[in-house]
Amino acid sequence: MSTPEQLNPSKYLGNELKYLEKVLRAESWSGTSGGWTQTLEQEFAKKMGMRYGIAFNSGTATLHAALEAVGVGAGDEVISPALTVIMDTTATFHANAIPVYADVNPETFNIDPIDVERKISNKTKAILAVSLYGLPPDLPKLRQIADHHGIALIEDNAQCVLSTVNGSMAGTFGDLASYSFETTKHLSCGEGGILVTNSESLAEIARKIGGHGFKNLKAEEGRTRLNQEIFQNPDYLRHDVLGWNYRLSEFGSAVALAQLERLEQLVDLRIKSASLFIEAMRECDYLIPQLTPEGYTNSYYTLGVRYEGEERIGVSWKEFRAEYVKQGGDGIYSAWMVPYLEPMVATRQFASRCPSVYKEVTYAAGLCPVAEQVQKKLMQFKTNYRDLDLAQKKVEILANVIRTFKG
Ligand SMILES: Cc1ncc(COP(=O)(O)O)c(C=O)c1O
Repeated sequence: MSTPEQLNPSKYLGNELKYLEKVLRAESWSGTSGGWTQTLEQEFAKKMGMRYGIAFNSGTATLHAALEAVGVGAGDEVISPALTVIMDTTATFHANAIPVYADVNPETFNIDPIDVERKISNKTKAILAVSLYGLPPDLPKLRQIADHHGIALIEDNAQCVLSTVNGSMAGTFGDLASYSFETTKHLSCGEGGILVTNSESLAEIARKIGGHGFKNLKAEEGRTRLNQEIFQNPDYLRHDVLGWNYRLSEFGSAVALAQLERLEQLVDLRIKSASLFIEAMRECDYLIPQLTPEGYTNSYYTLGVRYEGEERIGVSWKEFRAEYVKQGGDGIYSAWMVPYLEPMVATRQFASRCPSVYKEVTYAAGLCPVAEQVQKKLMQFKTNYRDLDLAQKKVEILANVIRTFKG
């Protein structure tokens, strides 16, 4: 077990311990007791320039609740990018809906709005737009497409916080925007998430979906404040929505709040780490960082790089990584398989949950060729270093590896 001295200071420097102690000493530890969770929701929404925040116990619960909140149900189609984690797909299946994959741009690795338009059908209910690695997709265009077709736009910003498009914050374009507080994220409390929205009705329904469907839940408030006399009544009816327990605990909220107080600092460390790596990569033509287009900012959850070394210097992905590790480098991660080639999807394991909906739904290789090609080449470089000195040491190792392969 780590001692406090060994803990990652980027996760630990602020008020986390102080707030946790206050929760421990409080009367109730549940999210329904409100205090910490409600403050987190208000402060997070304020930081994003939105009216409502609804805390959840993961960034997958948020996606599921968001889809159901905008009315996605059995047999509806949800368009999501072919280059992302599995959770956009699982959330869609859990809403009994059908994932439809749009291909990605080979430079930004983000969803291609032209392919989104192509994939829209009369069953499409929502677009799930992922900000991959901290870079928002073309959100103005996606908003336009969604409005034109009368469908919802949900932003999955699990990997992206404080990034902007033409000066507007990512998270302000969607009907709802989803964030994750899982342990690797910019802002973390181990496990958790939050939705933000400007819509009172979406906030209320999303909260009910995540809170057992209690009828008294409101957009801005996660606890039901009722005179005891009203519900000490055998005839009292409590639930008007089918919900789950997706609530974030007071412990999680307290830690997330402490992290929120230092959000700019946490994001800045990742951006600066990424910049150091990008600078070193200029020395070669086969490590091609994710393109951040003019007018966009990238919060660099991780630094996504297209590795072209196999073609350009005859060194395979695995050989390059092995050399970097051998010289003392760390944190080159491969990208997840495109979701529809994961066994759960490719072998139609999902179909049994709703046979009538999925009778004719199949997926196969070749569906999104750009994503399939880019996925094999992606290297995800770590950016969450404790400090820039450590990042710089790893950058020097990378520079040396590049020199090694120059011969
Ligand atoms: C793009 C994306 N969406 C959704 C999620 C799901 O978040 P969580 O792990 O909090 O459920 C993640 C986190 O890994 C993610 O990276």
